[in-house]
Amino acid sequence: MIIKSAKFISSATKPGNYPPPELPEIAFAGRSNVGKSSLINSLLKRKKLVKTSSTPGRTQLLNFFEVNESLVFVDLPGYGYAKVSKEMRKKWGQMIETFITTRKTLHGVVLILDLRRIPGGQERENLAWFDMNNIPVILAATKADKFSRQRQLVQQKEMAKALGIPLDLIHVFSAKTGQGRDELWESILDLCEI
Ligand code: GTP
Ligand code: MG
Repeated sequence: MIIKSAKFISSATKPGNYPPPELPEIAFAGRSNVGKSSLINSLLKRKKLVKTSSTPGRTQLLNFFEVNESLVFVDLPGYGYAKVSKEMRKKWGQMIETFITTRKTLHGVVLILDLRRIPGGQERENLAWFDMNNIPVILAATKADKFSRQRQLVQQKEMAKALGIPLDLIHVFSAKTGQGRDELWESILDLCEI
């Protein structure tokens, strides 16, 4: 995918502040600190368009980015961040849920997992929830650079088994090396019907 333009549009917490629903949108979800913002930067080949941080809970709003004047990426706050108050976590949850269930231009969600971590009940619940709401999901297992190719495959298999899904539904990815970038773009464009 050649990126001709990528720009920040706006941040929002509630529907009244979402940008006009004009272009197909893809949202990026996952645990806090899993590498969502880095994955977006890598897809867009921009080093700093989206703020990243080694401190979990960095992304706290819905952040909208327009790509090639033809689609919109939405960086979502991470879930499961322990250090914010219960009330904050509930608010984030509601903010994400409202966006995902009401946004007419949302074509799908890239659910980002850490290749080093075998998913559990929380991830299975999330997948079931997306399914129930008829939201197509693309799975990306990031930080693949932490493993050899051989070990990546072992992890990918374990993850697929834990989630009860076919192996090839998990895109192995690295924001650091760009591994898996083209394949992930292909799946995203497919969902957007571009
Ligand atoms: P929140 O917005 O806080 O939920 O975090 P996030 O999911 O957006 O994560 P972010 O992209 O900010 O990255 C978190 C940390 O993981 C940073 O220290 C990144 O440098 C690191 N990281 C992200 N992706 C990769 C990757 O592919 N490989 C490696 N080695 N590190 C990564
Ligand atoms: Mg982030």
